Amino acid sequence: MFHLKDSWRKIGKTLSLFIIGTAASVCSCPAINPPFVVKHLGDGQSIVQIEEQKKYLLLPVEEASPEAKLYMIADNDVVRNMNVRLAVNKVDYFVPVDLTGFDKKHLSFNFQLIPDSAICWKEMKLSDEYDTSNREKFRPVYHFTPAYGWMNDPNGMVYKDGVYHLFYQHNPYGSMWGNMHWGHATSTDLVNWEHHGDAISPDALGTIFSGSCVVDKDNTAGFGAGAIVAFYTSASDRQVQSMAYSIDNGKTFKKYARNPILTSTQRDFRDPKVIWHEDTKKWIMILAVGQEMQLYSSPNLKDWTLESKFGEGQGAHGGVWECPDLIELPVEGTELKKWVLICNLNPGGPFGGSATQYFVGTFDGKKFVNDSPALTKWMDWGKDHYATVTWSNAPEGRHIALAWMSNWEYANNVPTQQYRSANSVPRDLSLYTFNGETYVKCTPSKELLKLRDKAIKKRTFKVDRTYNMDKLFADNTDTYEIEMTIKNKNAEVIGFQLFNSKGEEVEMSYNLIEKKFSMDRTKSGNVSFSKDFPTVTMAPIEGGNEMKLRLFIDKSSVEAFGDDGRFAMTNLVFPSEPYNRISFYAKGGSYNVTSFTVYKLVVSR
Ligand code: FRU
Repeated sequence: MFHLKDSWRKIGKTLSLFIIGTAASVCSCPAINPPFVVKHLGDGQSIVQIEEQKKYLLLPVEEASPEAKLYMIADNDVVRNMNVRLAVNKVDYFVPVDLTGFDKKHLSFNFQLIPDSAICWKEMKLSDEYDTSNREKFRPVYHFTPAYGWMNDPNGMVYKDGVYHLFYQHNPYGSMWGNMHWGHATSTDLVNWEHHGDAISPDALGTIFSGSCVVDKDNTAGFGAGAIVAFYTSASDRQVQSMAYSIDNGKTFKKYARNPILTSTQRDFRDPKVIWHEDTKKWIMILAVGQEMQLYSSPNLKDWTLESKFGEGQGAHGGVWECPDLIELPVEGTELKKWVLICNLNPGGPFGGSATQYFVGTFDGKKFVNDSPALTKWMDWGKDHYATVTWSNAPEGRHIALAWMSNWEYANNVPTQQYRSANSVPRDLSLYTFNGETYVKCTPSKELLKLRDKAIKKRTFKVDRTYNMDKLFADNTDTYEIEMTIKNKNAEVIGFQLFNSKGEEVEMSYNLIEKKFSMDRTKSGNVSFSKDFPTVTMAPIEGGNEMKLRLFIDKSSVEAFGDDGRFAMTNLVFPSEPYNRISFYAKGGSYNVTSFTVYKLVVSR
């Protein structure tokens, strides 16, 4: 997704016009709110002068309002600017503008495009607090979400000294896309996360789009041995690549003074992923450029040389290629290693909108060659698995992937407000071979086992069985994992529904004739916020009489992993109450569930 409506690009132009406009039409109105002086200037322009020293200016947001422009001014200079859907008729929620470090005597805001009659003038307030405690029934328990505001792609994932860093596309000024920053969180176990606010904020080169981080162990860039170096796209009217570095283990980042480090005349030129290529002893940057990937090399992270392009005639091209990754993985059961090029695509996914495809092949430090150009391979067969990238420098040679659990078709409209979007559960990637082809396997990362609380095991049972989780656990159980093995006798369809007392359900089934696993969320709860939401997603299966399945259920998602991760399917759901029951059925024969365990999943922190 790239919105041309990204308004940062117009800032320079608009700002100078605005300042002239302000000086020309001074029309002061009396103060409405004691801690501010609000002056309306006509034509939707206003100035707010801050009169009280507080930590935050809390701005009231109405999501149905258009974006208004705000310029934060300290000592007559613009120090920050943002687009905010300021409340005109009603307040949906508040967003904070952090005023720390500014003296109220020198601080004011210019507002553009907001009528004098808008409710925001009465509702905005100064405060030392901004409450981020959860107010959403759909906020996941064990999936990562931003403390507040909008999130899309995971960015800059890097492991260093026992800590997993996760950065992410963040809008701190609303729960819809815009004002892209890199939010930052850390974890030592991939399931308990600590929020650290925004690490990289927009500047004169643009907003901060997706990218990656590396640990520069040998100080190739000269920022210091062990510096974390971040690469991101500066997005304004054009997209260019920039870098920033941290010499305090990711606590603070300093932008490189000579940004941008890479430019192009192409409009879609973004999402740098940087890796170290051991054989050629060079850094490699893979970039998404329109519908191809470009590969660059560098000895020092600053000077980049184009080595090759990849994409024409390869895989799916239903939309723009975004958020690439390039990793080397061992092939299960062999001594071989192969390179995997991850390519996120929007639109053009198998069920509409966004999806992650990948290519398996060779890479010599210059050129990636796909083993099977005729095949399109999808990493996940659900509708809500996008912008997948892996952790850099992960321990034990692991390649841990994380996806944004949404789809650009409806991401801005899903029924949450205090925050919007979660990430998938982390998955370890590996390769396996089937019918002479090499595929990626997505295994839920071992850290997820830590979430398991109480477990209820059932002995072998036949079809037509129903279990109520609340009864099994004698407690409300709405976040859980089911692990089961199914042995088919002669059924054509093996199916089961997760459902609640409101008749809302997610139906899953194996069709043994068509060799497909499917998940139907058309009756899953609230599906009306987008015509693209109610869907049945399907994954090819290999067949055979024994099927293993792990299901991860959180407040607003179902993730299915079949046969140790040989297929994965991730879908959002918004039930009016949790699905606390499961019931099994068969068509055309019968089967046994030979092992069935439900684990209550809880986060310890
Ligand atoms: C993918 C994407 C990236 C871009 C970012 C902007 O979801 O469109 O290509 O960098 O989102 O937020």
